[in-house]
Amino acid sequence: MPSSPVIIRPVRREDAIDLQTHCFSRNTLEEVQQQVESNLARMAEGQWLHLVAQVDEIVVGSAELKRETHRLLRHRAEWTGVVVDGEYQGRGIARALLAETLTQAATWGIELLTVGVRGGTGAEGVYHRLGFREYARLPSGFKEVCDGKLLVFDDVSLYLPVPPLASPSGPM
Ligand SMILES: CC(C)(COP(=O)(O)OP(=O)(O)OC[C@H]1O[C@@H](n2cnc3c(N)ncnc32)[C@H](O)[C@@H]1OP(=O)(O)O)[C@@H](O)C(=O)NCCC(=O)NCCS
Repeated sequence: MPSSPVIIRPVRREDAIDLQTHCFSRNTLEEVQQQVESNLARMAEGQWLHLVAQVDEIVVGSAELKRETHRLLRHRAEWTGVVVDGEYQGRGIARALLAETLTQAATWGIELLTVGVRGGTGAEGVYHRLGFREYARLPSGFKEVCDGKLLVFDDVSLYLPVPPLASPSGPM
């Protein structure tokens, strides 16, 4: 059976329930609602983009683009909060979220996209596959206790150059 199309679009207030169920189940619905409100406000200021991936009317993926504001960093933006529901992973949804993110980043004049990830996880492999390259690694930078076990990960920073928008061809 062919899989349903994936729609990538900016977040809406009413997405909070799906986001909490499918992407941020460790957070409460109230926390996710507050985060969406905050992101909508930052999007209105042109400082942020929160995209969601929708399949069959359900929001199953999420990714945010955070513009750096420091005068030395204005050519950079961070890709953050990238999550796809486990049932929908491996269908190209992260790749589709990245494509839309890169278009917006180029529109803002961003030249470098950065991302942070836990070393040794599947996500690190995905980011490399998407074209990101490592520029920093802090050994044992993340520690988490999970089911009574201590988990230790490197804190890995990656970057991807943002392709500039194709300039419209005008009359010669
Ligand atoms: C990381 C994550 C967002 C990827 O989402 P996804 O929709 O499954 O990714 P895609 O299907 O778009 O895959 C992108 C590419 O990575 C490849 N890929 C998938 N899993 C991989 C792995 N473990 N190692 C290497 N490459 C992998 C895919 O084959 C695809 O490459 P292709 O298009 O050339 O075939 C998703 O797995 C996820 O939400 N993980 C849990 C949360 C998380 O770790 N987020 C990152 C926080 S830093």
